[in-house]
This record gives sequence, structure tokens and C-alpha cells, in this order.
Amino acid sequence: MSITPSQGAKFARIMSVGGSRGSRVVDNAEMCTMIESSDEWIQQRTGIKERRWAAEGEDAVTLGTAAAAKAIERAGLKPEDIDAVLVSTVSHFQQTPSMATIIADKLGMSEPAAIDVSAACAGFCYGVGMADGMVRAGSAKHVLVLGVEVLSKYTDFTDRSTAFLFGDGAGAVVIGPSDTPAIGPTLWGSDPSQHQVINIDDWRDERPDGQGPFIHMEGRQVFRWATTFIAGKARETLDAAGLTPEELDVFIPHQANNRITDSMLRHLKLPASVVVARDIACMGNSSAASVPLAMEALLDSGDATSGQTALMIGFGAGLVYAGQTVVLP
Ligand code: ACO
Repeated sequence: MSITPSQGAKFARIMSVGGSRGSRVVDNAEMCTMIESSDEWIQQRTGIKERRWAAEGEDAVTLGTAAAAKAIERAGLKPEDIDAVLVSTVSHFQQTPSMATIIADKLGMSEPAAIDVSAACAGFCYGVGMADGMVRAGSAKHVLVLGVEVLSKYTDFTDRSTAFLFGDGAGAVVIGPSDTPAIGPTLWGSDPSQHQVINIDDWRDERPDGQGPFIHMEGRQVFRWATTFIAGKARETLDAAGLTPEELDVFIPHQANNRITDSMLRHLKLPASVVVARDIACMGNSSAASVPLAMEALLDSGDATSGQTALMIGFGAGLVYAGQTVVLP
């Protein structure tokens, strides 16, 4: 007697991308009515001009559902064609049920596999790595991977070192079978010794004012890690896919800070022809949603086109990172 293992497709690909942004636009002038800062400081230090926040009636589930519906439609599929839903988020207010099951229900799916992934700003690239493996192993044919965040709800407006950073939105892709290689090896890992560097308050802690839980970050420490260790990992991710910088078309790093992106570019020595995502300028840092939202923006604007190769890398609380080189949908 022997067990029959699952068998999947030889290759997997990103079939489509869809995004949804909080509809409230908060520019730096408005932000500076909430914290002591200036438009000049925020733009110079991060590249952020404005950020998008969830407006009245919008939340993680509405944004996630809208992004997912768009991605499924663009893949030419129906919700019932999705076998598994992976939602990367650190902004779900409940431990259970998972946001994945809630969004699957909103989309009218009947019985997909559904789980949440907690890997902060690296969460989307973790999800892509997992979905790639699932499609090739045969445990799912079509996987919906979502990054969803509403970090404005976790922002402490008495902390001017983080309050201006975050944006709310959701980005989704559908990953399915492919005849040709379209997702390179996922490089992922962590530095567990730095797990306290970015954290959200323990939800069991009672606050007398009823505020929070809030996100906290040692910005300089994360900045150092991102511009040294992560920049090296970005290069290794490209190498693992067997590509040289000259063969790359698009670079989509996590939208944390334009200065981090600039530092990575210097390290990677990418040719000037490579299109670089700068979605942070109008979105802020939307954590797990930032890479798919930036991808959608580049494709919608025509700055990038379907079939081009893109290097993606996410990094954040944990500290964790994940990246892969992909063919754009
Ligand atoms: N406005 C004006 N001045 C400010 C502000 C502000 N909003 N915030 C801090 N400052 C001041 C500080 O007090 C400090 O003044 P000092 O020199 O007199 O002490 C000075 O500006 C510099 O402060 P730094 O903290 O060194 O500022 P830095 O250049 O590091 O920028 C930032 C801060 C933008 C947060 C940066 O550290 C960063 O981007 N870090 C990485 C963030 C990141 O990648 N996070 C990962 C993802 S998040 C997640 O996982 C959920």
C-alpha cells in the first residue's frame, strides 16, 4: 500500500492583480495638523506626499473584498474557481474567525481553504511564495493572495515618529498554473532577535482612555536592517531566479521609505532602464498591501507591462522578509 501524493502544475504564475485604496486622502498639510512636523521633513525623510486612509464605511474587509473581486475578474475567473484564500494582514481586530474566511464569505465562495498570514510588510511576498508552492504541489489550482491593512486604526497620534507613515488599502493577486516559469524561487527568512523592534500593543492590555492597540517602531533600527541586510537579500533573490540586473524590467520593493528604495537601488546596481515603484508618494506605507498596490499602479499607468520581469521584496515586523522575481500579469 502506498499513499498517492498530490500532483500539481509544473509552473505557477500571477494571473492578475487588483487593488483597493482607502478613499480618504490625507496630505502632509493635514497630517501636520495632527502631529508636530512639516511637509518638507516628511517628503525628504520618506518620499510621502499624501496617504490614503479608510473613510467612513470602509474597513479591512471592504477594502480586501473589493481588491479580491477585481483580481478574480481580471483573471477571467469566478469566486467559486478559487481553491484557497491567503490573507496577509496585521490589522485584523479578531484572532478568529480569520479575515480570509470573512472575505471568502463576502465573495460568495463556498468552501475554499482559508488562512491568515501574519508577516507584516513581508506578508504579501510570503503569500506569493506559499501559493506558488501550493499550485505546483497540487494542493490548490487557483490561490487568491491578499495583502490587507488599515494601519491608520493602529496609529498613535501622540507618536510623531510613526503617525505620518501608514496608509490603508488592499492588494490581491490570483496565482494559478502556468506553461512556462513565471515565479522564481522565494527567498524568505527572519531576524527573530529583533522581534520587538516593530510591535502592536498586546490586546489584553487595558488602556484607561480606551485608545489603541497602537503600533510602535524603532525606525532607525529597521532602516539600518533594510538598507544593509535586506538590500543584500534583494540581490540574492534576483540571482536565485537566474537573472542579471540587466535582464530585470521592474523593481517593486515594499513601500516603506523612498530612501530605503534608493539605498537598495545603489546596492543592486540596477540599470536606469529598470522601472522602480514609488507608490509610497501617494499611498504611504500600507504594509502587506504595498507591493500588490504598487504593482497594480505600474500596470494601470502603463509604466510597466504584462510579461515583464519584476523583482519584489517585502520586509517588516518580526523582523521578517520575503521576495521573489515574477513575470507581471
Ligand atoms: N517630523 C519632524 N521631525 C521628526 C519627526 C516628524 N514627524 N519624527 C522624528 N523627527 C525628528 C526626530 O526627533 C529626530 O530629531 P533629532 O535628530 O533632533 O533627535 C530627527 O527627526 C531624526 O529622527 P529619526 O528617527 O532618525 O528619523 P529617520 O530619518 O530615521 O526617519 C523613519 C524616520 C521615516 C521612520 C525611518 O526611520 C524609517 O523609514 N524607518 C524604517 C521604517 C520601515 O521600513 N518599517 C518597516 C515596515 S513597518 C511594518 O512592518 C508594519
